[in-house]
Amino acid sequence: MNRFCMNLIKVISLSLGLTVSSCYAISNINVYYYNGNDNFINLYATFLGKLSERSPLNFKFYDAQNHHQEQLESIITGLYSGSPAIVNLVDVNDAPKVLEAAKDSGSKVVFFNRLPSDSALASYDDCWYVGANSEQSGVYIADEIDDYFKTVAHYDKNKNGQLDMVILQGEKFHHDTFNRTLMTVTKLKEKGYPLNIISKNYDNWDRYNAKRDLLKQIDLVGISNIEIVVANNDAMALGALDALKSHGYNTDVNDKEHYIPVFGVDGLPEMLKEVEAGRATGTLISDYSALAKVCYEIATSEAQTDEEVTQLVWYKTENHKTMIPYIKFASFKNYMKQKYVFPYQK
Ligand code: GAL
Repeated sequence: MNRFCMNLIKVISLSLGLTVSSCYAISNINVYYYNGNDNFINLYATFLGKLSERSPLNFKFYDAQNHHQEQLESIITGLYSGSPAIVNLVDVNDAPKVLEAAKDSGSKVVFFNRLPSDSALASYDDCWYVGANSEQSGVYIADEIDDYFKTVAHYDKNKNGQLDMVILQGEKFHHDTFNRTLMTVTKLKEKGYPLNIISKNYDNWDRYNAKRDLLKQIDLVGISNIEIVVANNDAMALGALDALKSHGYNTDVNDKEHYIPVFGVDGLPEMLKEVEAGRATGTLISDYSALAKVCYEIATSEAQTDEEVTQLVWYKTENHKTMIPYIKFASFKNYMKQKYVFPYQK
């Protein structure tokens, strides 16, 4: 029996004053990715893939490769089959249409990573969001940058009285892009850094675009006039490193003259390795395994309220949003040293 039938039974039973205790048995779950080539989404997908192998449920994974219309059609078809959906939207503006179909069919939807509007989320009771607080990531990166400059005791290498910064941004209308840039810049200004933003182009989370972008800025202003590179994610921070290395920078950690601090966000294994080795400077860990597990738990549970979901997943859930905290690299490193090895060493 699918969720649609069960919801119908629930409604009829409630109107007759009966309680339905043991609900539907879910047998399938559909998972939709905006783009499987995205490095962070790929980590999530690999982890959820492993979880699915141990699950009694039948998982189907769909990679939209950035095509929003195909993704929308496929999500709607899946919802009408009565299966819950875990959804990473190509275009967050498609959320209302997804939720209309979910409402009609009585199916549960768990969005993750790309945040739909509050009004869309409020339009259907059995709709949830799992993600991370992007303002927090911007604030934490500003803290890491400040910590770094305090240890080296200077930031103005070219002595122009400014901190000359290249920002490599993600997608244009993405909440993480907007909040990471905004909060990092705001907090650094509050901390007293006289920022000169050389450029802040949209490199769409992509390593190669970021490399090209930074090479262009190097050509335009000269490498000695770039004092820091802040990327909205690790893939782009790695692209920045590719560019710097091709100019002989950030290769020899003892050569401070040829080093430009580079920051990212996500905690990709390759970036952790670069930061640990001292060729890159900082990142945050965005816990993809927690993200995947929480999505899975919510999608397969019958929890209906924020309190029930909070108890289920052990992350505070408010207004149907569960936020997984970011972890600063330094805290992660200390913790990991005691408990585990770094993921890339496995
Ligand atoms: C961000 C992440 C990026 C990219 C993006 C896709 O949270 O930091 O690397 O994966 O999501 O929506």
